[in-house]
Amino acid sequence: MSADAAPTQPLHALRTVRDLVRWGASEFNRAGLVFGHGTDNALDEAFHLVLWSLKLPFDLPAVYLEANLTEAERMAAIDLLQQRVRTRKPAPYLTGESWFAGLSFEVDERVLIPRSPIAELIQARFSPWLKNEPESILDLCAGSGCIGIACAYAFPDAGVDLAEIDAGALELAERNIARHRLGDRVAAVAGDLFQPLAGRRYDLIVANPPYVPAAEWQALAPEYRHEPRRALEAGADGMDVVDRILREAPEHLAEEGLLVCEIGGSGEEFLARYPDIPVSWPEFEKGGDGVFVIEREELSAWLEACGSE
Ligand SMILES: C[S@@+](CC[C@H](N)C(=O)[O-])C[C@H]1O[C@@H](n2cnc3c(N)ncnc32)[C@H](O)[C@@H]1O
Repeated sequence: MSADAAPTQPLHALRTVRDLVRWGASEFNRAGLVFGHGTDNALDEAFHLVLWSLKLPFDLPAVYLEANLTEAERMAAIDLLQQRVRTRKPAPYLTGESWFAGLSFEVDERVLIPRSPIAELIQARFSPWLKNEPESILDLCAGSGCIGIACAYAFPDAGVDLAEIDAGALELAERNIARHRLGDRVAAVAGDLFQPLAGRRYDLIVANPPYVPAAEWQALAPEYRHEPRRALEAGADGMDVVDRILREAPEHLAEEGLLVCEIGGSGEEFLARYPDIPVSWPEFEKGGDGVFVIEREELSAWLEACGSE
């Protein structure tokens, strides 16, 4: 069935929250939608969109699922569910909001939708990898600013820089800094990786750079193609930006500083390029993988051994 196909039952039969969620999920499955931007299945995605449209909490007590809706509410929820099918936009681009580490962020198509497993590391304050409380933190490739802003909550005395090359993304990062009233401690910095940060060193650098190989990016589902290409694609093996981060990070890490970097599903490409790099791979309880950590000292020694520093 094509994404534009007509609904398969008369819409007036949809009276309650439960009806709408059930119908929306069936429409999503019929249209072959792909999930992964906050939910991982059709029912959760439909539930999320219906409740958002009704301005109801996501932990709505079950008794309200049977409540009748007004005609305006019904039509607004149906319209949102149909937009999801018609446009193939991930739900957060339709609602303008995304959740990361328990915090709400404004999003639009200028930024990747937050979903990094690094959220779990932040909530664990990077234990056991981080030895000391960091005073200075860099969120490199910041997008919406979700990682740096969540770090600012986790480390209430730290100063945080959000570095980002894209002007549109940077504007959204600034809006999120204001949304969380963190302007006194968190700053957005424009530029290409470390270029605007000459002379600055950090106790902790956290990066979720683009790392998708070019051919893989071409084959992504429509939902992912709505995200900025520059946020995802990074050369033939996806390692173009990661490579620069590895080589330039020691100059911007404090003596005992830690680099945390996501490479997602590109582990094979990473290990093909750097078979002997002495990184550790944290395990995640809430799902996800593909994040490495390395201390400055180890990184510098490895680079020196490679003859690159
Ligand atoms: C995978 S997204 C991550 C966004 C955000 N940190 C998150 O986890 O949701 C990568 C971001 O890096 C930015 N970026 C790409 N190349 C960059 C570069 N050379 N310097 C700085 N930022 C870059 C992209 O514009 C995009 O916002």
